[in-house]
Amino acid sequence: MKGNRTFTMIKPDAVKAGHIGAILAKINEGGFRIVAMKYTKLSAEKAGEFYAVHSARPFYGELVEFMSSGPIVAAILEKDNAVEDFRTLIGATNPAEAQPGTIRALFAKSIGENAVHGSDSDENAAIECAFHFAGTEIYK
Ligand code: CMP
Repeated sequence: MKGNRTFTMIKPDAVKAGHIGAILAKINEGGFRIVAMKYTKLSAEKAGEFYAVHSARPFYGELVEFMSSGPIVAAILEKDNAVEDFRTLIGATNPAEAQPGTIRALFAKSIGENAVHGSDSDENAAIECAFHFAGTEIYK
């Protein structure tokens, strides 16, 4: 069975550009319910840990530097089939390939500065939600 939770971050580029409100509106219009949310900033250490799965990639250093460069909005979203539906809503990792109307097509600058993160599997969604939120910070 598909899970009903995914994890997202509004990344430093989109926060800096003033897109928090517009992105949250798209998330709500997409039928997702926000059950946890925080405005925070990742240390380089925390960003490195979050993206450890990419540590062998050539862009890892750049990714960690960017993700710790400014505040982010982290949130847990609920909806049936959350992981897949959210990935459809945000569009392809590279905004040049994202479908028109998707969050990345509207707000992302580049493959590195791509406005939002979305979990890529139910298993990773659970890990990422627990990385950012204690059980007591989730309100159903
Ligand atoms: P995200 O969905 O947060 O997960 C991994 C991130 O790595 C991805 O979004 C991109 O922001 C980043 N990324 C992927 N490919 C590249 C790349 N070629 N150059 C820089 N960053 C990348």
